[in-house]
Amino acid sequence: MTLSTESDGHPVALDLTGETSPYPFFEYMRRTDPVWHGSLSDHSQMPEELRPNDEWVLFGYDGVFQAFRDDRIFTSAEYDKSIGLVMGHTILAMGGKEHHDHRNLVAKAFRATALERWEPSVIGPVCDELVDEIKNDGHADLVKAVTFEFPTRIISVLLGLPAEDLELFRRLSLDLISIPSDIVAGLNAAAELQGYFLNQVEQRRRKLTDDIIGDLVAAEIDGEKLTDEAIIAFLRLLLPAGLETTYRSSGNLLYSLLTHPEQLAMVYQDRSLIPGAIEEGLRFETPLTMVMRTTTQEVEIGGKTIPAGAQIDMCMGSANRDESRWTDANTFDVRRPRQAHIAFAGGIHMCLGMHLARMETRVMLNSLFDRVTDLAFVPDDGTGEESRIVGLTFRSPNKLPVRFSPVA
Ligand code: HEM
Repeated sequence: MTLSTESDGHPVALDLTGETSPYPFFEYMRRTDPVWHGSLSDHSQMPEELRPNDEWVLFGYDGVFQAFRDDRIFTSAEYDKSIGLVMGHTILAMGGKEHHDHRNLVAKAFRATALERWEPSVIGPVCDELVDEIKNDGHADLVKAVTFEFPTRIISVLLGLPAEDLELFRRLSLDLISIPSDIVAGLNAAAELQGYFLNQVEQRRRKLTDDIIGDLVAAEIDGEKLTDEAIIAFLRLLLPAGLETTYRSSGNLLYSLLTHPEQLAMVYQDRSLIPGAIEEGLRFETPLTMVMRTTTQEVEIGGKTIPAGAQIDMCMGSANRDESRWTDANTFDVRRPRQAHIAFAGGIHMCLGMHLARMETRVMLNSLFDRVTDLAFVPDDGTGEESRIVGLTFRSPNKLPVRFSPVA
């Protein structure tokens, strides 16, 4: 399904299946109607009673930022009726004191300082091992070989899952995140993960271990511990929240570097550019372009009045290309002066795993650059299908065929 409009006599279309770039459409909307009474979703397959009757999309940075900050008016509670059906009542759908207390309990494990111990013991070895597996092959599809695999292996070690469960964990994670395309497989995976994680929690209640599940079992505020149900909801949320976003964002960054070989060479030579490249990758090709909120009361935003009870789609992908905030916003530039983007959202639900995501991506790039050289795109891998970034809400490359030489 396609939405189309016209700009200065030129057609501007948005392919809702995500087969073509949404950025020309986003740019047009930022310019003409940044607080738009409309929808970027194809609700035609959805039962009538579940369709939002009043939907708005925020395209500009200021509007998206304002709405994230004002979580009393722009509530995320409706997640209970969508992802909640699969994940349970998660931190994402909580607000006020419940969110504050719950977030405090889980945040400790994800602080930058708490993560430092994992870099030499887990993240570095996992990334090195993955690149070692391919470095002598001379070619690879980095999506298959690296970008999906490294966050999956890392999170399974950080959670403290037994090494022999990796295959099972990989399959269940893949099935769970494929829920938009295969609901049955997704629901089965959610049920299987429930039993699997419950068993892991019970083991730690008997004997505490030094891993994230152990941290969650031990976490306490004012004598209150997390219930099994809350821990399992949180663990299941980590798969779409932590795995899917990281694999997509690292693929996007590699795609952007590979299609800008002069910048890839620069980053390869000067590793101090890696942190800036990661932020620019997240801004330029935001892996999760939209999240949803619901208004609890009438509110004015960008000069428009939105009624209570409306669904608000916060288009972070568009906000991150807002030309009033970034010069040449449509250009990928790893040396761009730092200016906070909004790929990790903002306000109380701002991504809990952002330090982990940044660290994983930095370590993965270093492992790759330390082990292979002359890394370059293979434009024609013989399949007849070009490599490109696809998707509307979730975006990442369909594949990353590359060639390289091993570092001697
Ligand atoms: C580049 C990778 C990542 C991106 C782009 C990303 C993006 C986001 C966004 C946009 C939100 C807010 C969603 C909303 O408000 O509706 C969020 C929340 C969250 N993220 Fe991430 N994320 C990433 C990696 C991770 C990782 C690695 C983890 C953990 C392993 C994680 C765990 C979470 C959790 C638990 C929340 C909910 C926080 C709350 O509700 O207070 N994320 N993330």
